[in-house]
Amino acid sequence: MFSFRSIFFFITLLASVAADKAVVRNSRCACTALKKPDIPGAEVISINGTQLLNHTVTAFPGLLPVPVTGLDICAVDVVLRHQGANDQVLVKVWLPLKGWNGRFQANGGSGFAAGALDLTLGPTAKLGYAAASTDAGVGFNPLSPDGWALLPDGSVNQEALVNFAYRSVQDVGLVGKAVTEQFYGKKAQYSYWNGCSTGGRQGLVAAQRYPDLFDGILVGAPAISWPTYVVAEQWPQVVMHEENTFPSPCELKAFTDAAVAECDPIDGLTDGVINDPNACHFNPYKLVGHVIECDGTNITIAESVASVVQKVHQGPYDQSGQRLWYGLNFGAALDTLANTVLVDGARKGSSFFVNDAWIRYWVAKDPKYDLDQVDYTTLAHLFTESAQEYDTIIGSDNPDLSAFENAGGKLLVWHGLSDQIIFPNGSVTYRDRVERLLGGPSNVDHFFRLFLAPGVDHCAGTPSLGTVPIDPFAALVSWVEEKKAPAQLSAQVSGADRIICPYPLTARYIGGGNASAASFDCL
Ligand SMILES: *[C@@H]1O[C@H](CO)[C@@H](O)[C@H](O)[C@H]1NC(C)=O
Ligand SMILES: *[C@@H]1O[C@H](CO)[C@@H](O)[C@H](O)[C@H]1NC(C)=O
Ligand SMILES: *[C@@H]1O[C@H](CO)[C@@H](O)[C@H](O)[C@H]1NC(C)=O
Ligand SMILES: *[C@@H]1O[C@H](CO)[C@@H](O)[C@H](O)[C@H]1NC(C)=O
Ligand SMILES: *[C@@H]1O[C@H](CO)[C@@H](O)[C@H](O)[C@H]1NC(C)=O
Repeated sequence: MFSFRSIFFFITLLASVAADKAVVRNSRCACTALKKPDIPGAEVISINGTQLLNHTVTAFPGLLPVPVTGLDICAVDVVLRHQGANDQVLVKVWLPLKGWNGRFQANGGSGFAAGALDLTLGPTAKLGYAAASTDAGVGFNPLSPDGWALLPDGSVNQEALVNFAYRSVQDVGLVGKAVTEQFYGKKAQYSYWNGCSTGGRQGLVAAQRYPDLFDGILVGAPAISWPTYVVAEQWPQVVMHEENTFPSPCELKAFTDAAVAECDPIDGLTDGVINDPNACHFNPYKLVGHVIECDGTNITIAESVASVVQKVHQGPYDQSGQRLWYGLNFGAALDTLANTVLVDGARKGSSFFVNDAWIRYWVAKDPKYDLDQVDYTTLAHLFTESAQEYDTIIGSDNPDLSAFENAGGKLLVWHGLSDQIIFPNGSVTYRDRVERLLGGPSNVDHFFRLFLAPGVDHCAGTPSLGTVPIDPFAALVSWVEEKKAPAQLSAQVSGADRIICPYPLTARYIGGGNASAASFDCL
């Protein structure tokens, strides 16, 4: 027997199923009939929407740890060409068919890729955002620019570099927002940028060059001052070569561990994390003569190894003692930049792929350039050449953020203090320069805050070390939409709640147990 109540429920159910079908049918129509958007400075060659139901993005080592499943989206490919350039750029836009949260989010790239495409579109669309990512016309290979750095005649591919450096940031923002508006019939209420590393650099580019494009920009571990910091990444290799000393990863780890053991308690809390690396004055020579077990053999730490470690932390300087850039902080792993390989039983240096490719292709303009032979003098020249030729293209460190400020934008930058790839002092220097230009911290804090995360490695790799920020993007959204400027970021260290403070403040333990965020204050 049906009660009136259950019949009513049944009818409601049928009606809602019908409504869902209508949404999907209209969406399919809207998805497959999208018109080419007008993009200033570019010709849109094609637009192609495909409705994908229960779509899966499979996991990808380093970029997408777990697969994204159950996506119902309109997946749009837009292909464009810049006026006067012989390029072909793909912008992908993924639009949730149901439960769009009214926001647009563009995702940045990684290494030599301007966008991770499906690998960031999947997680972003899953959260209800209209999402966009671009290949900048240089394809998707984070690890190598082999295919696009140079033209067939051996000269630098300037158009591709400009696309990678900044033009693609505008493409992905303009195309993404236009397609979002067309599909839903209304503009996204808020637009965001989200990226780390190369993606962080692109976020700074957005604030500097395209100040009206995004309401909120989240920048992690930015590859800021690219032409300089990338050459500085070669420094540990040059030091090992000049000192003719190639420590194993195990030896290097002994120094990192000893620095953490000495400097972790400075903040009154022994939690495996150096709170403020600038307050750490660990002396690597202390380990000279110590015996450590590495790969089944006991070795005695040599003075030459301590000397290498000290120079890696100091960072590069020229023959007159002038600092060229920063070093790695105490607590950071040293074996990414001071990497070595065993060849016929002997250790030799092995350059990190970013500096390796940048110096060969763009600075030396010779794919066969022999980085093993770079000495201190040559490295100093490489610094000058790289900066002179490329700062204005890919430096991404113009401190004049006044247009972004006037447009009402919010910029949240965070950087792990144990970043083993990009020197956190680059982010600190940028914030200081913006302050100097705009007249002090009170003129900056209302739209740009920097958070330094103690002990955290590059972009908080997995498994994450240190005081890892929990959801900095959520903090940005509440800053933009509720005008709540983040006084601190929520974080966790080994499962215990912590806070991360806006620079120049640091989180200080104020007592009450090491497990609670309330035991810390920004001082
Ligand atoms: C549009 O996308 C579909 C599905 O990926 C593909 O089969 C088709 O060739 C594309 N059409 C154009 C014009 O690119
Ligand atoms: C969605 O796809 C998953 C595989 O990824 C499959 O197990 C599941 O049955 C699918 N669901 C529907 C409703 O088709
Ligand atoms: C908290 O402190 C206790 C005692 O000092 C220590 O055993 C524990 O590992 C600490 N926990 C964390 C998460 O720091
Ligand atoms: C290394 O030295 C320690 C301490 O003297 C000793 O216990 C250990 O067996 C040695 N390991 C090897 C591989 O010789
Ligand atoms: C970072 O900058 C500070 C302040 O200028 C300086 O004291 C420190 O040595 C720098 N650290 C590294 C690792 O370069």
